[in-house]
Amino acid sequence: MAGRIPENLLEDILGRVDIVEIISSYIPLKKAGANFKANCPFHHEKTASFMVSPDRQIYHCFGCGESGNAFKFLMRHERMEFPEAVESLAKKCGVILPQEDRPEAAQAASLNNQLYKINELAVSFYETNLYGAGGKTALHYLAGRGINPETIKNFRLGLASPAWDGLINFLRSKNASLAHMEQAGLILPKKSGGYYDRFRERVIFPIADMRGRFIGFGARVMDNSLPKYINSPETPVYTKGRNLFGFNLSKDFIRDADCAVIVEGQLDFMIPFQEGLKNIVASQGTALTQDQIKLLKRYTRNIVMIYDGDTAGETATLRSLDMLIEEGLNVKVVPLPAGTDPDALVRKAGVATLKEKVENAESFFDYKLKVLRGRHQMKDPHGKAKIASEMLATINKFEDAILRGEYTRKLSDQMQIPEQDIAEELHKLKPAVSQEAKQPAPQAAKPAPINPAEKLLIKFMLEERDLVEKIMQQLSPSDFADARTVKIVEVMRRLTLEGKSISPSVLMNYFSEEDATALVCETMFMPELSEEGREKAVHDCIARIKVQRLRSRREHLHIQIKSAQSLGDETKLNSLIQEFHNLIKKGD
Ligand code: UTP
Ligand code: MN
Repeated sequence: MAGRIPENLLEDILGRVDIVEIISSYIPLKKAGANFKANCPFHHEKTASFMVSPDRQIYHCFGCGESGNAFKFLMRHERMEFPEAVESLAKKCGVILPQEDRPEAAQAASLNNQLYKINELAVSFYETNLYGAGGKTALHYLAGRGINPETIKNFRLGLASPAWDGLINFLRSKNASLAHMEQAGLILPKKSGGYYDRFRERVIFPIADMRGRFIGFGARVMDNSLPKYINSPETPVYTKGRNLFGFNLSKDFIRDADCAVIVEGQLDFMIPFQEGLKNIVASQGTALTQDQIKLLKRYTRNIVMIYDGDTAGETATLRSLDMLIEEGLNVKVVPLPAGTDPDALVRKAGVATLKEKVENAESFFDYKLKVLRGRHQMKDPHGKAKIASEMLATINKFEDAILRGEYTRKLSDQMQIPEQDIAEELHKLKPAVSQEAKQPAPQAAKPAPINPAEKLLIKFMLEERDLVEKIMQQLSPSDFADARTVKIVEVMRRLTLEGKSISPSVLMNYFSEEDATALVCETMFMPELSEEGREKAVHDCIARIKVQRLRSRREHLHIQIKSAQSLGDETKLNSLIQEFHNLIKKGD
């Protein structure tokens, strides 16, 4: 995990920042004895099981197992990569990091930073236009769409003027290069040489990433001419399918509501959001992608889809249902009448109506069956078979066999098809379950139970450095049975030999295994023992692990003996039996 940033610098940073201060800038922390607690920001819960230790500079959630140090918190909460989290905290506490030693990576990072800067400048330019002399029509248009002045400011909406070089000239005056403007997707090369502004005579909807940095633009005409929207092309900082419009503003609401409403367009996001439906995101166009779903999944597992009420919207909804189910999410649908979208509905009937529709959203099953019944004839055997097989294709996306069974029965019931026939069809489909869905979700994997003696020894060693050496005189890392403890003990031993710190928050920079990190953090919240209590417990734990070691060696020898017997290898057998006797003697 430490990558190329020197470990002593990581330690230095961790020593200077305060995890309580960092975490409490995102969520409210309550004092609980020597620690702090909160409702976990990483999963939905009603009682606080998220703990932060100011002494250890770590956090751990007893509900979902998410745990780590200050770097890890930023990585998880702000979706930062490790180097980004390090950089951010280094800046905060004044630690100077060495220059990146990979020139390409440094270059890419600096190009991206340039592009964010240029986009930010462009946002301010368009914004200034909107409030300037030429902005009347645009402001009038936005007001006509029901967008409040406050919302216009919040979203930093703007106006591209009719000129072909307005933005170019402005950015030039700010010393931006044409190459960077082009890479940001803001200008286009002319055939005759030179460049022109991509967006002209349109209202501008800046697109921000999860962290609120401007990465692209949507630009809409103010009349009915076509194309209605022109968008930024893909750029080094903008990939449409990896971004959700408005997510930077709505992610906390989504986490709190434990539900995300997905709509298509910018306006379908802005109007409901403005009116108070806050747990919403826009996929910007109809093609919801796997990447977008993965982003959402970190905040909630409950999705309500509200796409436009036309055939394109319907087809996109059906496709999205399958993808969402495949990712293990619970999905419901709010069907809208043809020609309506969430923006129009809120404007016409008020946000309460939309909220009510969200509350009463249809199950994927009812929605899809209804759509299919509209598309095929139930009375015609072929139509009926088509409906059933399309329903089964979706049901088959559930990883959970019980759910597949439940929905299959429901289908048989509602379509009056014998369950046996349905089961037979489903069976044919079986191999179609996606490979991706089959891979265990990293969070879902339950750690195997661990020998309490191993867990306690880890705790003791972390609490008292001198114990590492003492314990290592009697046990070696491989004597531990659990892969997590083996890893932790190995690292602790190495660091101790090298004379380095093994404080929990530093230690976890040395392994990338999430479950090992979680174990370290968990032990730190276990009650502490008195001096004598600990001495006795260390002794007992070592003894127990020795017994465990002996047992596993015996079992191993036993297997070897059996195999030597069946092979008739006398010499080998004799030496193994000798070994076995020695082992038993030692164990007494
Ligand atoms: P819609 O055609 O449903 O438009 O496209 P809309 O969101 O209702 O737009 P308004 O209300 O007329 O302003 C849905 C989304 O698809 C993308 C945009 O992100 C839009 O919000 N789109 C649509 C484009 O990118 N280009 C287009 O020409 C049309
Ligand atoms: Mn619309």
